[in-house]
Amino acid sequence: MRLGVNIDHIATLREARQGMEPEPAFAALIAENNGADSIVAHLREDRRHIKENDLYILKAIVRSRLNLEMSISPEIVKIACKVKPDQATLVPERRQELTTEGGLDVADNFIGVKKAVDKLETAGIEVSLFIDPIKLQIKSAKRTGAKMVELHTGSYANAVNKKQENKYLVGLKSAVAFAKSIGLTVFAGHGLNYNNVSKIAKIGGIEELNIGHSIISRAVFVGLGKAVKEMKTLING
Ligand code: PXP
Repeated sequence: MRLGVNIDHIATLREARQGMEPEPAFAALIAENNGADSIVAHLREDRRHIKENDLYILKAIVRSRLNLEMSISPEIVKIACKVKPDQATLVPERRQELTTEGGLDVADNFIGVKKAVDKLETAGIEVSLFIDPIKLQIKSAKRTGAKMVELHTGSYANAVNKKQENKYLVGLKSAVAFAKSIGLTVFAGHGLNYNNVSKIAKIGGIEELNIGHSIISRAVFVGLGKAVKEMKTLING
């Protein structure tokens, strides 16, 4: 199974000081050197982390695949067509949200989603739709002409007890099987971490998991000790 590493929160940290570090492109190189099969970045409409310029740098240096997460807004679609990432993942977007909440409602926004899919595919960009793991959305995704879907694992990840977790896991399994049966390539992601990923990784048919927050969070702790030691050495010669 492939792993897509979302590096948005390297940019979140940079934007805390609105400076130059940490540089998301360095994170992309480290992720790739350690096995990431794709690099994921979300250009949000409010540009709260990744900026347009980051995309051009990433496009130049990413050797695996660049997966641009984006809304279907015409402004963002235009930028994507200029940057030409390998893949675009269409997600819903609300300015106030902390992170992407819920999947794209393809059934209700069919015309707008299809328009974005057509434009991106015409520009040579593969398109994946980030949707909730339910039949109506999967069927609608297929009708747009997109070849790939990313199933939202947030409900599974946020389950408050084993019974609920199991219910969402069963739902995800049948959604994967259904999406595959109608010829879609299936990815999954959102809210996956070092404790909950194994059960998702065991579901046959998912080709890639996209994970961000938990990897960047863990990186802080596995790297903090070394960072402190290096500073101490600098200070004391
Ligand atoms: N997949 C999609 C479509 C997302 O929007 C996000 C969050 O940016 C992720 C995966 C990664 O989610 P997390 O940061 O919770 O691992």
